[in-house]
Amino acid sequence: MVRTAGLAGLVALTAAGRTGAAEAVGAVDAEDRWVEAGLRAAPVPLDLEGRQRELVGLGSYLVNVVATCGGCHTHPEYASGGDPFRGEPARIDPAAYLAGGTDFGRAVSSSIRPDGAGLPAGLGYEGFVRAMRHGEARGEPGKVLQVMPWPAFNALDERDLRAMYEYLAAIAR
Ligand code: HEC
Repeated sequence: MVRTAGLAGLVALTAAGRTGAAEAVGAVDAEDRWVEAGLRAAPVPLDLEGRQRELVGLGSYLVNVVATCGGCHTHPEYASGGDPFRGEPARIDPAAYLAGGTDFGRAVSSSIRPDGAGLPAGLGYEGFVRAMRHGEARGEPGKVLQVMPWPAFNALDERDLRAMYEYLAAIAR
């Protein structure tokens, strides 16, 4: 990750603008912005001990802001009195956050919080990737998850998946 800071960053941006490479500079810096926005967006305390802050922040950005996993995995999505769709200031119940329980008829969303062993959704990283990318249902070979938008998540790259997993694992228990 390239960081442009202070005067050096300004010079780099200006120079890039002149050479038409401004987009490339912006693209590199985008992840830094996502990391900070992600850390601000996490609605629960995080345990960053022994973890990469950048990865956790990026994961939070993807989970909370971009893919909005909580829309399906938090039930109810907002705490009572904290529903922005009713004009209330948004508030999420930390205990319900990503703990599953939304009934979609065809499936009920599962908890994707860390289990007793600290594994998000009780899945190791490989199992998490198989569920995210291929909709592989745990212990049910040949069956695919019915509601999870895994066909879209299929395009997530390795760093994004790693970041999401790290973020979920960092949810304080
Ligand atoms: C449209 C609703 C929806 C969204 C958005 C969604 N999920 Fe899910 N997810 C579900 C449901 C429902 C299940 C239960 C299985 C199924 O789909 O049949 C599930 C299952 C899972 C599983 C498998 C858990 C297990 O028990 O094997 C994982 C992991 C998971 N989701 C992670 C995520 C993450 C991470 C995000 C955000 C990047 C996300 N989901 C976004 C609805 C959703």
